[in-house]
Amino acid sequence: MAEPKSNELMEKIVSLCKRRGFIFQSSEIYGGINGFWDYGPLGAEIKRNVKELWWNTMTRMRDDVVGLEATIIMHPQIWRASGHVDTFSDPMCDCKFCGKRFRADQIEPQSGVAYIYSGAESQLDDVESNLNDRLLAAADEAIKASEHVDIVRLKAASEEMVAITVVTAKLRPKISARAAASDALDAVLRPFEALQKLLSTSDSNLDRQEAARLNTLIKATIRKHYYCDEPTRVLLRKGEHPDTARKKARAFYERRKYYLPKLRKEEVEPVENSVGFCPDDGGELTSPQPFNLMFKTHYGPIESDENIAYLRPETAQAIFAQFRNVFDSSRQKVPFGIAQTGKAFRNEVTPRNYTFRSREFEQMELEFFIKPDEAIEAITGSVTKVPETGHPGEPQPSWGWQAWHQYWVEERVRFYEGIGLSRETLGFHRQTAEELAHYARACVDILFKFPFSKRDEKGELLGEELEGIAARSDFDLSQHERFSGKPMGVFDEELRAAWGKLDDAKKAELSKGYYEARLKYLTKSGVEQAKAEKDAKEDADGLAKGHYIPHVIEPSAGVDRLILALICNAFTEVTDTDDKGKSETRVILKFHPRVAPVKVGIMPLLKNKPDIVKKALEVRDLLRPWMNVFYDDGGSIGRRYARQDEAGTPYCLTIDFDTLGEKPELLNTVTIRHRDDGKQERLPISELQAWLLARIR
Ligand code: GAP
Repeated sequence: MAEPKSNELMEKIVSLCKRRGFIFQSSEIYGGINGFWDYGPLGAEIKRNVKELWWNTMTRMRDDVVGLEATIIMHPQIWRASGHVDTFSDPMCDCKFCGKRFRADQIEPQSGVAYIYSGAESQLDDVESNLNDRLLAAADEAIKASEHVDIVRLKAASEEMVAITVVTAKLRPKISARAAASDALDAVLRPFEALQKLLSTSDSNLDRQEAARLNTLIKATIRKHYYCDEPTRVLLRKGEHPDTARKKARAFYERRKYYLPKLRKEEVEPVENSVGFCPDDGGELTSPQPFNLMFKTHYGPIESDENIAYLRPETAQAIFAQFRNVFDSSRQKVPFGIAQTGKAFRNEVTPRNYTFRSREFEQMELEFFIKPDEAIEAITGSVTKVPETGHPGEPQPSWGWQAWHQYWVEERVRFYEGIGLSRETLGFHRQTAEELAHYARACVDILFKFPFSKRDEKGELLGEELEGIAARSDFDLSQHERFSGKPMGVFDEELRAAWGKLDDAKKAELSKGYYEARLKYLTKSGVEQAKAEKDAKEDADGLAKGHYIPHVIEPSAGVDRLILALICNAFTEVTDTDDKGKSETRVILKFHPRVAPVKVGIMPLLKNKPDIVKKALEVRDLLRPWMNVFYDDGGSIGRRYARQDEAGTPYCLTIDFDTLGEKPELLNTVTIRHRDDGKQERLPISELQAWLLARIR
C-alpha cells in the first residue's frame, strides 16, 4: 500500500489508540485538559512493560547501578541549586489581538504587509460630544465651587457629573452598559472624591495649587476615556483586503474599551519572514518574555512565599540530592549509577504532537557517576581514547568521560533495538558547542523518526528527541554542595595511593588541569574571583589526597515519547482480499513481544464445547501467573485473530479437538499462530510456558 501522509497517519494512530484503549484524553467528559493524557487498559500494560524493561536493563541486570524512588515535591532549594528557578523557562509571546500564547522560538516566520496605526479615538457623535463638553464644564464648576467653599454649588456640579457619566455610558451599546457606567464613574469620581475630602477637612479656602492639580486630573481621566495613544500593527497575508486590517485594528481598540474607535494615522510596510505576528490572525505579538515551566504549589496550611514548592520538572535532581545517602548505604564505588523512574511536570507553553510534548509525563533517568579524567590518569597512567561512534566494549578502569559517554549512547541504542526500534528508525543529534550548557562536555540526543518529524531536503524524516545522553561534568553535585553546604565529594583510596607514586611533573600537570576545570565552574556559577581561586586551589589539593566530586553521565529518557514511538513503529495496515475478491484494510500493531500489552490470546475453537472450554481455561491459568494473557471466545477465529492483531498481541493459542486427542498424536498440543506472518505451528502445552517466556522477556 502507498504510505499515508504523516497527518493522516497520525490521525489514524490517535483514533486507534482511543478505540482500542491505549490512550485517552485526560478529563475527556469535561472537554479535556490540554497537555494531559491517560493510558487505557492496553496503554497501561505497555507502559508497565516499558518501565520494567528499562528498570531491569539499567539496574537489576547490572552490578554497578542501584535504584531510587524519591518524592515528587522536594525542598524548593533543590530547584534553585539546579538552576530551574532561574533558567528553566521558554521565551513566550502573546498575541495582542486574540490573546493566544506562543513559544517565541517555535513561531513560523510570516510575510505580507503590516498595517500600522499610531492609536485611535472614540468617535463622538453630536450628542455624545455635547455631553462630553458638559462633563468638562461640570468638572470646572466643581473646582470653582470647592475654591469658594460653596457646598451647594459643589453638590450640584457633582450631581451633574454623575448624571452625564451615566448617560454617556448608556450611549455605548457595545460595551455592557453597567460595566461602562461603573468604569466611567469610577474614573471621574475618584479625583472628585479627593476634592470633596480636601474640602471637608479644610476650614478655609482650598489650596489653589491642589485644586488645579485635581482639575487637570479630572480632565485627563475624561480624555483617557476617549483617546488611545497605544500604537498597534497587524499583518495582512497575500490576497487579504486592507479593510481586514482596519477591522482587526478597530476590534483591538474596542477590546480596550474605546467606543467606535477611529483609527489614527495608517501606514503600511512590507514584511519578510517576521516572527512578530500571530500565526493565527496576523495580530501584533508582544516581545518574548521568559515563562518558567515549573508548576508551583504550596505545602502546609498557609499559602505564602515561604512555603512555595514545585512539582518536579525532572526526576534527576532527587538522585543528586540523595547521592550521599545512596553512596554511604549501598557499598557502591565510583563508577556507579543511580536510576529513577517517575512522573515529571512541565507547564509547556504549547503541548503538541499528541503525547509527545505533554505537561505531565514520566521519565526514566540514570545518573552514572564517574571519576574525573585527572583521577583516571593518575590511577591508570592514561585515559583511553575512543572513536566518536561505535560501542567501546566492556567498561575499563582507564575510561574517562568520553568513553563512558559513548558507552551509554550505544547501550541505550541497544536497548531500543531490543524492543523493536531498529537503528534505521532512529536518528542522532550531537549538540554543538553553542547548544551545550556551559558545564556540559557533550550531549547526544537519540531521535525517533515520528510521522510528524521534520524532513530534510531529500524528504527523509529527521526525527524528534526520545532521549538525551549528557556528559554533565561535576556541575550537579557541585551545585548541591554549594547550596546545601553539605559535602558531595567522595574519598578514593586508589587515587590517593596512585597519586603518591606520580612524579612531580605529572602531579603538577594533573593538579593544573583539575584546578582550571574547578575554577571555570566556580566563576561561571557567579563565585567571586578571589574566592573561586581559593576554592579551586583547595579542590586541587583535595584531589592529591584522593578527594573529588564525581562527574556524571546522564541518559535521560521519556516513557510517553517511547510509547508513542513504539505505537508509531508498530502501526501497519494490511489489506486482505477474500475468495469473492472483497478487500478489507485492517491494522496490525507489530509490537516487539517484550513490550506488547497482551502476550498471548487464548482461544477455545468453540465456546459451546465444554471440554474444549475447560482445556482452554486450564491453559489460561497455567500461563497467567507469568504473563498478561487475554481469553477470547467470542466470534469466528478469524475475527478473534484480527482483534488481537489490532491490539498487538504477538501470539494466539487455539485449543481445538486435536488438543483433546481427536488425533491421538496431537493430544495436549495447541496451535500457536504468529501475528506478523499468520504462520501456525503446533506445540505441547507442557512446553508453552518456556516457549513463550523465551520470546517475551
Ligand atoms: N534531566 C535531564 C532532562 O530532564 P530533558 O531533555 O529535558 O532532560 C529528558 O528530558 C527526556 O524527557 C526527553 O528526552 C523526553 O523523552 C522527555 N520529556 C521531556 N519533556 C517532555 C514533555 N513535555 N513531554 C513528554 N516527554 C518529555
